[in-house]
Amino acid sequence: MIKKTHFGEMPNGDQVACYRLTNKNNISVNILTLGAILQSWEIQGDPSIDIVLGFDSVDEYLADASYLGTVVGRYANRIANGQFSFGERSYSLSTNLNGHTLHGGEDGFHHRLWQVEQVSDQDNPSILLSIVSVDGDQGFPGNLQASVEYCLSEDNCLQITYRANTDSDTVFNPTQHSYFNLGGHDAGAALEHLVQVNASQYTPADSLSIPTGNLRAVSGTAFDLNQALSVAEIIAKNDPEINITSGLDHNWCLDDYAENQGNHRLVSSILEPVSGRTLSVYSTMPGMQVYSGNFIGEGTVGKRGAIYGPHHGLCMETQYYPDSPNKKNFPSSKLCAGSHFISRTDYQLTL
Ligand code: GLA
Repeated sequence: MIKKTHFGEMPNGDQVACYRLTNKNNISVNILTLGAILQSWEIQGDPSIDIVLGFDSVDEYLADASYLGTVVGRYANRIANGQFSFGERSYSLSTNLNGHTLHGGEDGFHHRLWQVEQVSDQDNPSILLSIVSVDGDQGFPGNLQASVEYCLSEDNCLQITYRANTDSDTVFNPTQHSYFNLGGHDAGAALEHLVQVNASQYTPADSLSIPTGNLRAVSGTAFDLNQALSVAEIIAKNDPEINITSGLDHNWCLDDYAENQGNHRLVSSILEPVSGRTLSVYSTMPGMQVYSGNFIGEGTVGKRGAIYGPHHGLCMETQYYPDSPNKKNFPSSKLCAGSHFISRTDYQLTL
C-alpha cells in the first residue's frame, strides 16, 4: 500500500511530499521528496518501533548537518582538497569540511527536492525519484541525471537501486545515510549493537579521514569485524585511528567486489541483542563506511521529541572508497559520457 501526504514546504514554497510504503507485514517506510530521505522505518504494533533516526519537519531537515536518512551525492564521503582531474583537465569542487569535499559539497543532493517519476502500489511497493544535476554543479563536470528507487519487499527488505547517466565524463558515488537503531530511534546509544563486516581490508586514513591510499589487512587490528563485535567493544580496543574519530567512521573494502556492479552479495549485518532484530546489508558496491554517529549533536531533538546524541545510530554507507577520484589503485568511480550507472544496496530486516 502507498499513501501520499503533505510533509511541509521548502523556504521558496515548494511542497515536500511524504510517500508511505507499507507491506503486508505492517512494516512501513516513509520516503520524502526532500533529499529522497528515508524518514521512518516502522514495525507497526504495540508499541510500534521506528528503526531510523529522523525529524518531523522540513526545517529540521534543512538545519541538520548529520545527513539523517538522506541520499547523498554526487559523491558520498570525501574528495581531498576538493580537487580531482581527468587527464590534463582538473576540477575544483565546493569544499565544505576542513578544505575537503564531503558528501557532494555545500549544496549536495541531500537538501534538494527530488521528482517522483513512478509509484508502484503492489505487494512490493516502490517509488522512483529522480534528480538533475547540471554541468558544473558543486564543480562536478557533466549534466547528470540520477535516480533512486526504493522498494519494500514482502519479506521486509528495503531494496535501493541507484541509476545515472551523464553527457560528459564525471564521478558518481551515491549512498544512503540512514542512522539505524534496531532498538528504536528513541532507544538511546546503539553501542551494544553487534557489527559484522565481510572485509579483509580497510582504507587507513589521516586525521581528517582522507585515505592514505594504502589498503591495510584488518587481521590482528581493531578493524577486523569478520566476527561480530559490539560498537562498545570496538571502541574499547583503543585503536588510535578509531580514537581520532571518536568511534567508527571508516571505510571497509568489502570482499568479493566485482567491477561493473556484477556481484550483489551479503556484505555486513548488525544485531541488536535485546530485541534480537538484525539488519543485513547486501550490495554491489566495493566499500562501506561504517559510521557510529559520533558527531550527532548532544541533545538533538528528533522525531516526536526524541532526544538524540553521539552513537545513537549506525550508518552503513555503501560506496566507492573515499577520495577514489585521486587514488588510482582504488576501484574507479568514474562515470563516462553515454554509459549507464547502476548499483544496488539492500537492507534486509529480520525481526
Ligand atoms: C559520514 C562521514 C562522517 C560524518 C557523517 C555526517 O558518515 O564519514 O565523518 O561527516 O557522514 O555527519
